[in-house]
Amino acid sequence: MRAVVYERFGPPGVLEVRDVPAPRCGPADVRVRVRAVAINPKDALERKGRVRWATFHRRPPYRVGYDFAGEVAEVGRDVRDVAVGDRVFGMRQGFRAGAAAEELTARNGEYARIPDGVGYEDACAVPLAGQTALQGLRDVGRLRSGQRVCIHGASGGVGLLAVQIARILGAVITTTSGLASFDLLRELGSDDAVTYEGHPVLRRAGAFDVFLDVHGNVGYRRAREALAPGGTYVSTIPGRPILVDTLRTLAGGQRARLVLVRSNAVDLALLGGWLAGAEGSSLRVVKDLVLDGLESMAAAQGRIETRHAHGKIVLRVA
Ligand SMILES: NC(=O)c1ccc[n+]([C@@H]2O[C@H](COP(=O)([O-])OP(=O)(O)OC[C@H]3O[C@@H](n4cnc5c(N)ncnc54)[C@H](OP(=O)(O)O)[C@@H]3O)[C@@H](O)[C@H]2O)c1
Repeated sequence: MRAVVYERFGPPGVLEVRDVPAPRCGPADVRVRVRAVAINPKDALERKGRVRWATFHRRPPYRVGYDFAGEVAEVGRDVRDVAVGDRVFGMRQGFRAGAAAEELTARNGEYARIPDGVGYEDACAVPLAGQTALQGLRDVGRLRSGQRVCIHGASGGVGLLAVQIARILGAVITTTSGLASFDLLRELGSDDAVTYEGHPVLRRAGAFDVFLDVHGNVGYRRAREALAPGGTYVSTIPGRPILVDTLRTLAGGQRARLVLVRSNAVDLALLGGWLAGAEGSSLRVVKDLVLDGLESMAAAQGRIETRHAHGKIVLRVA
């Protein structure tokens, strides 16, 4: 089967499509015929060798991609939740890249059924970014209905889903972004669209119960003033600052915390339901770019690393 691979770390041009051995389906795995994959900043970071601390044990050719949607082609003998022919979507866990291929295997927690009426291109765009937003707001931020949230840097893959998830959770939402995204953010549920230039939201003392720093570029120390007493600052970017601030805020009062996305079937099913408009809650996938074929991966990753994508980037595989 064909898959996107690279032999050495570098720019998008190192990516190529090559024949590789077909994946073997273990007893607890499903084998999926991939129809569409979505791109995330993590894909580009890995390709540039920025996460070698986590992937040092891997040898080239390196595989690519986390988000996928497709059809189940085979189920392991212990799998009960899906059957051959079911449509599934999901995210490979941790650093198990390999979604950008004609076929992949997925483990328990990495996949869920795609509800009727939801297409592969929408489904593949949600697992990594949507679970980051959901887990960051609901679990790490403990965002509850009626609370005030600021989603800083709201115009990208995670941010546009975070706004809609915060709306579904019943929050009062402030977003920061470039001017060009104000209308879209209001349409998706932002009550107050504010520019990120000069960070005016940081001067609103005690204004937010939760501050989601989507790009981690504000930091807890600067966001603290804008947090309500007992409020939570959530960063998506691992590193020394958030680790130090987490330790310093363990005792109580305002909290600083990191979200590290972990795929699970319950959250995937919840997001899938919202994509299908379940219980009156709807999630819309805004796409920055849709391209055809695994060969387009270099162009797709080139776009994500501009850091100016306004929505998800999707590749149709078959
Ligand atoms: N911890 C985790 O588990 C986890 C999971 C997923 C993602 N992440 C991280 O979360 C971040 C966002 O991911 P994503 O998928 O949303 O990325 P993305 O789609 O590439 O984000 C692009 C958007 O971000 C905006 N932006 C870029 N730099 C900004 C900044 N300094 N301040 C405010 N807005 C900025 C851009 O707006 P303009 O064009 O208007 O400037 C653009 O719309 C990435 O760093 C990613 O690595 C972490």
